[in-house]
Amino acid sequence: MYAFSKSVEQLRSSEIRDLMKLATQPGIISFAGGMPNNDLFPVKEIDEIFNNLPLDIKKTAFQYGPTPGYPPLLQSLKEFLRKKGLPVDDNKLLVTTGSLQAINILTKEFIDPGDIVLTENPSFIGAISVFKSYQARMESIPVNKDGIDIGILKKKIQLLPKKPKFLYITPNFHNPAGITYSKTKRMELLDYLADKDIILIEDDAYNDLYFDDATKDMATPMKCDEPDNVTICYTGSFSKILGPGFRLGWLLVNNEIYEKCELIKQAMDACSPNFTQVLANEFLSQGKIYPYLDFLRQEYRQRKEMMDNALKKYMPDYVKWNEPNGGFYFWCELPANFDTSEIMKIAIKNGAVFVSGKTFDPAGVKNNNFRLSFSNMDKNEIDKGVKIISDSIEEYKREL
Ligand SMILES: Cc1ncc(COP(=O)(O)O)c(C=O)c1O
Repeated sequence: MYAFSKSVEQLRSSEIRDLMKLATQPGIISFAGGMPNNDLFPVKEIDEIFNNLPLDIKKTAFQYGPTPGYPPLLQSLKEFLRKKGLPVDDNKLLVTTGSLQAINILTKEFIDPGDIVLTENPSFIGAISVFKSYQARMESIPVNKDGIDIGILKKKIQLLPKKPKFLYITPNFHNPAGITYSKTKRMELLDYLADKDIILIEDDAYNDLYFDDATKDMATPMKCDEPDNVTICYTGSFSKILGPGFRLGWLLVNNEIYEKCELIKQAMDACSPNFTQVLANEFLSQGKIYPYLDFLRQEYRQRKEMMDNALKKYMPDYVKWNEPNGGFYFWCELPANFDTSEIMKIAIKNGAVFVSGKTFDPAGVKNNNFRLSFSNMDKNEIDKGVKIISDSIEEYKREL
């Protein structure tokens, strides 16, 4: 038995990671993984980009790069983000090794053991693990259809023994809840946080994956409307679009916060992969990103519609969900006494897998929800897989 550090002692392998092993077994229809679709990656475009690079840039790609990011990528990314209305000139941009590293850097910057981090409930498992690894005390606030429950947020903050350091949220195409914050909710939240000295971490990993133009407007990052009296640290990622294999994300923060971020990153990995930064820069600067995003949105929208139809066709009437308007996920709710880990075991036996709700509860308890991911899915399997899960829920209910 080794004497592990306190910070890693409480880290456990999550159900989701253990399940990934099952999910890749042949024959199982997997709605488990939150990854983009293998068949949609821009393999041909990236091949062409690399083959046509001048030799000196190819050599640069193999080399270490500056900590803040490959300078041409910082420029092209800045333009990409400027088009979304993000305040790229008043803030500083850091290229990170996935946006999970951005969350990790911010947590290292602000959290000492026992400090309070506010999260949504449910929340992204990767971020929960990061907060745990810094021994943060997590306090979670439920998420409704239009975003975080501000009434509960207010009450919670009043009752806490000390001021939380930050609030971590995913306002667009939430993982796992599938919801998008309404404009009103965004404004209410910023109003409430005004002068509270609680940093808002806005995780926008799915920003480009909206399914219609009305949603595009609604999904405008909150950082675009950052008032003087609230600090927003904005994170984004290439993972859900170009592919997680690039391991590239970004962080947009004010100068003061940025200075420490750069030093922290230097100690973590010195720089993000130059190889993929070179490729991502060409993809952006040659304008290939925009038609590719149109293509992705269409593909994911089709999958979402197929899953919605299958849910309507097969799910018992006590199962509730709301149709996502972007991203990768349906979040289904069962009666409070249902245990989705048990249902999952039945579903696996029957040939399909999803992720049970408690994976996304920072306290690891609430388990009457489950997440269905339609992203890395063969369209032909959606209907069959949803039927298996619906039948498994009914099988579980009969045994209750
Ligand atoms: C909400 C959210 N944020 C961040 C990430 C991290 O992605 P990456 O580190 O690959 O950029 C994910 C990945 O699943 C996610 O769902």
